[in-house]
Amino acid sequence: MQKILIVAGARPNFMKIAPIIRALSNVRNIEHKIVHTGQHYDAAMSQNFFDELGIPQPHYNLEVGSASHAVQTANIMIRFEQVCLAEKPDIVMVVGDVNSTAACGLVAKKLHIQLAHVEAGLRSNDRTMPEEINRIVTDAISDYLFVTEKNGIENLLKEGHPKETIHFVGHVMIDNLFYQLNQLQVNPPTIGKELKSKITAPYAACTLHRPSNVDIRENLSLLLSTLAELSKIMPIIFPCHPRTLTRIKEFNLMNLCSEWKPGDKIKGSLILTEPLGYMDFLYLWKDAACVITDSGGLQEETTVLKVPCITTRTTTERPITVEIGSNEIVGLDCEKLRHFFNKAAKGIWKKSEIPELWDGKASKRIVEILDARS
Ligand code: UD1
Repeated sequence: MQKILIVAGARPNFMKIAPIIRALSNVRNIEHKIVHTGQHYDAAMSQNFFDELGIPQPHYNLEVGSASHAVQTANIMIRFEQVCLAEKPDIVMVVGDVNSTAACGLVAKKLHIQLAHVEAGLRSNDRTMPEEINRIVTDAISDYLFVTEKNGIENLLKEGHPKETIHFVGHVMIDNLFYQLNQLQVNPPTIGKELKSKITAPYAACTLHRPSNVDIRENLSLLLSTLAELSKIMPIIFPCHPRTLTRIKEFNLMNLCSEWKPGDKIKGSLILTEPLGYMDFLYLWKDAACVITDSGGLQEETTVLKVPCITTRTTTERPITVEIGSNEIVGLDCEKLRHFFNKAAKGIWKKSEIPELWDGKASKRIVEILDARS
């Protein structure tokens, strides 16, 4: 019997561990325990996702909370080391590229525990992004590199990783997307339903939270004023990350948005809401004329549902979404943003395809590889 500790810490991790846990429940030779680092802790950023995605309560919650990168990473390491010493797992599995990913990876390897990284090999080649550092560090010490797109294999080979450690398995987040789409038929989410009934299509959906976009006053001001202008063409639903909301208030930009809560009338066209649950947001963006985002995962999910995606970043670590998917990169170039937004509003977009192995079976492939060890 093997023992695996599965780590999740921040919102984008939860949709990745959910399908892996489902796949593990079909395997007899692997025992697993879930460790939540507590990097994200608001109900809207954490517990709601556990509930909606059907993730069991974690066996451990390290409750590290928010802090500077060094303090947050150090706290995760100190607390996760105790868990590893108590549990003595055979494998630690980390997903994605957040601080929890790199912190727990380092702890595992220094205790000589095998490390599996799900979503390995992605590179934006922008080392000012904290996620890029987390990706490089985690991949450098992983024993199992589970890759989502072929470009990831090339990156890992270039960095000298042995071929046998690299496994092209597809994308667990897409497994989850398909699963949740089925759930949506059974149980349409209430906030999503209410919002959709109060606006007329076409509409757009937007998320912003990258430090480079939201922590710099000029950048956030430029983006929000352009979005406010474009929302006159079609309304934009903007579920707001706590980091972004803090900055909008600090930079006095609230006047560009129109806040909305369930039960309210819609008063403006750039509609700012609290962070939405996975299902509420999926219910909205899947039918949007376009999604404007700086998220990594949404570039991929929109590609699978062929929803036009406009990415307000200068690079992407997920190039397949641009090469064959529905994604366009615009950075902070608001002329380009206007151009693509107008196209989407008119229903004109490039023809796109779904990447190889993004078929809903990535978790099964991962579990089969790990099971073959026992
Ligand atoms: C983190 C990840 C990022 C991911 C994002 C998704 C790192 C380096 N970054 O960024 O890759 O795309 O999660 O959301 O790991 N806050 C709350 N409540 C919460 C969590 C955060 O209010 O539950 C606020 C706090 O003010 C905090 C700030 O958001 O300081 C930033 O949180 P943090 O986890 O440090 O980074 P994110 O921007 O969320």
